[in-house]
Amino acid sequence: MAGQPLLEIHDLSKRFAQRAGREPPPWVIQDLSFTVGEGEFLTIIGPSGSGKTTLLNMIAQIDSASGGSVRFQSQIAPIADPKALNPGLSCQIGYVTQEDNLLPWRTTLRNVLFPLEVQGRLNDETRAHAQMLIRAVGLAGFEDHYPHELSGGMRKRASLIRTLVYDPPVILMDEPFGALDAQTRAQLQEDLLRLWDLGRKTIVFVTHDIAEAIALGDRTLVLTRAPARIAGEHKITIPRPRDIRGIMTHSEFGPLYQRIRAELQ
Ligand SMILES: Nc1ncnc2c1ncn2[C@@H]1O[C@H](COP(=O)(O)OP(=O)(O)O)[C@@H](O)[C@H]1O
Ligand SMILES: [Mg+2]
Repeated sequence: MAGQPLLEIHDLSKRFAQRAGREPPPWVIQDLSFTVGEGEFLTIIGPSGSGKTTLLNMIAQIDSASGGSVRFQSQIAPIADPKALNPGLSCQIGYVTQEDNLLPWRTTLRNVLFPLEVQGRLNDETRAHAQMLIRAVGLAGFEDHYPHELSGGMRKRASLIRTLVYDPPVILMDEPFGALDAQTRAQLQEDLLRLWDLGRKTIVFVTHDIAEAIALGDRTLVLTRAPARIAGEHKITIPRPRDIRGIMTHSEFGPLYQRIRAELQ
């Protein structure tokens, strides 16, 4: 169950800088407000180009906002000034980007351990936790393989647990399974829900896939085309644990799917 708001997004707006000799660029996001509860799995669905990645970049503090605020645990994050940004809010916000960004010269295990090394938190306990996560997503036996020796699905799993391993209270995910085939994608969705169930992190998961938004989320926000505003908000009460592969047969799925599809048009 979702508790107190962990993240509060208020009137967030974004317009990229004007380039010399060009028209001012349009607003990408305008006056967007929503909250994310502690332990909630929020999915955000919007058409391609609607500003989803831009939104996550601002929440992750890797891009500045043109207006509005982001609060994390009631503290205002400094996102108005590009020079004051604190990417990842000192490791409190994990970010699984669209690309897996594994380091090609590091093995699976050493990629997963990398954030712990950077944070100076690599010890017997955190190493054992990393090994547990590797087993949990079926990467046991591949610890010493390099990224180019893994399939796309395996690389995604490695990048997912590399974020889980340092235990940030919030994880942002940007269409992480978009490039995978349907079978692998369903497998990873199941893995993700299983991992989430182990720790119940707060997750903000962006997708352009309606079925994915419904299958994973406690709640979904539907975004308009840019400038992104909220076209709809839906609680998803399909009980957990969910059967990802059979979710279309649940009575709640069809009507919700149709409503979201109408809001996207
Ligand atoms: N760094 C940037 N500079 C200028 N325009 C950008 C930049 N990043 C994204 N945009 C524009 O912002 C809009 C939204 O992009 P994006 O957030 O990537 O959308 P989505 O992730 O929903 O597909 C697009 O029109 C894109 O061209
Ligand atoms: Mg994007």
